[in-house]
Amino acid sequence: MGGAIAVLDFGGQYSHLICRRVRALGVYSALFPYDTSAEELKRMGVAGVIMSGGPASVYEPSSPHPDKDIFSGNVPLLGICYGYGLIVQAHGGEMQRATRREYGKSSLRILDRTGLFTGFPQETISCWMSHGDSATKIPAGMSVLAVSDNSPYAAVETSDGKQFGVQFHPEVAHTERGDAILSNFVFNVCGATRGWSMSNFLDETVSELSSTINGRVLCAVSGGVDSSVASVLLNRAVPGKLQCVFIDTGLLREGEAAEVSKFLKEDLRVPIEFIDASETFISALRGIADPEQKRKIIGRVFADVFEHYARGSGPFEYLAQGTLYPDVIESGRSSAPASVIKTHHNVGGLPKDLSLKVVEPLKALYKDEVRSLGVLLGLPAKVLQRHPFPGPGLAVRIIGDVTPEKLRICRRSNKVVEDVLFEEGVYNKVWQGFAYLGDDRVTGVLGDERKVGYQVTVKLVESIDAMTADWYRASPQMLEKVSSAITNEVDGVVSVVYAISSKPPATIEPQ
Ligand code: XMP
Repeated sequence: MGGAIAVLDFGGQYSHLICRRVRALGVYSALFPYDTSAEELKRMGVAGVIMSGGPASVYEPSSPHPDKDIFSGNVPLLGICYGYGLIVQAHGGEMQRATRREYGKSSLRILDRTGLFTGFPQETISCWMSHGDSATKIPAGMSVLAVSDNSPYAAVETSDGKQFGVQFHPEVAHTERGDAILSNFVFNVCGATRGWSMSNFLDETVSELSSTINGRVLCAVSGGVDSSVASVLLNRAVPGKLQCVFIDTGLLREGEAAEVSKFLKEDLRVPIEFIDASETFISALRGIADPEQKRKIIGRVFADVFEHYARGSGPFEYLAQGTLYPDVIESGRSSAPASVIKTHHNVGGLPKDLSLKVVEPLKALYKDEVRSLGVLLGLPAKVLQRHPFPGPGLAVRIIGDVTPEKLRICRRSNKVVEDVLFEEGVYNKVWQGFAYLGDDRVTGVLGDERKVGYQVTVKLVESIDAMTADWYRASPQMLEKVSSAITNEVDGVVSVVYAISSKPPATIEPQ
């Protein structure tokens, strides 16, 4: 951690995004529990500390507070949102519930183009605010660097020029030149130097895995980017100790098993065994409509099949998973309490008595970082560019019961969407493109006859990390092509609609 930036996690949804932005600047950054001591940070030789946002209010007695020595001025400090409140309060200012709260885009007027705003050509930028508290008094000696519509102290600096507080979020894409603000802090204030890269991460992870893993590793692969990268990484770190298993849940994309066999087994020579458990999954899901229950059932059956295989072909000591950071955060497993949005089955659902130690070598990474790692590991571009696919598969793209007919329609429609995206050269422009359906049936006409059939929804989204997403502004021609391809090629569908909700308020998958 020498020369790195430590991010103290106060539970904000974007805490890890701060690390990611700093790493994108070429400086290593990692998330730490909010109460990591100043002594420990000093021992690690960090160049600076960033305190994240969080859902609490600094004036509440039970709110999380860092070690007070952090404010001594020994290490440069940047407080964001909740972290801003901590800095203001620690130096003698006052934070209160705001009379006018700010959520979303706001305009920031820069008063002082030094410090965090060095090199800013413009006086006003747009920034992303999300706070219910504001400073009613700032400490003596603290100067104001910027103001926003509702906050006269939107960015502040202590008199020694080493501690800063910003009420907005420089880490989110909606803040104009947010990267420049972080870069000013990291390089000008902390004096950090560039040196972190994905190839360092690869080398360090390989050596860490090979020195800590001392038994056989079982890894579930699905053909998706994450588990493929995880398995190739482990095969490099602990050659001869890895055994991969591909479990066909019956809920997979069309042609998935054949593709996995081709690139993992034949091209990359990863040891892999195929298990067809589709009957077990489909019958366990019969009559189940609730999506969280579906995830739990799939997680349980998955773990059972796994255990069965592990016992029969073991002994194995480890279970490797391609869990990514957003899975960890959205499943409420971060070091600070962020709220649970969905239980992603590859994180939750494992029975407690599963006697395998979990290895998750990608759990600090976002999708685009995993793709860069995959390039270094020699995975084919087609696999790395593959859209994310949820662990519980088509079960979460089928609203209500998972019936054989809905499953057939869902699988085929997803393939049609994928094919059209490739034909139109759009596949790599969107984050995810898929089709889903529920029990809605609408009236259609076929030839001269009335025909009642299913209505399929097509969803194409743009995103950087799946934490937020926007609907893709597809051309009418392409939408028409998708619509007619689905109604022509997928028996039982008479109507196609296009989803135009962003995340939030919707999530990417329909369930
Ligand atoms: P949501 O729907 O939560 O999706 O906005 C964010 C990203 O995660 C994928 N996703 C899942 N992945 N298990 C997974 O492994 C799940 O249960 C699950 N649910 C959603 C989704 O496809 C998107 O890329």
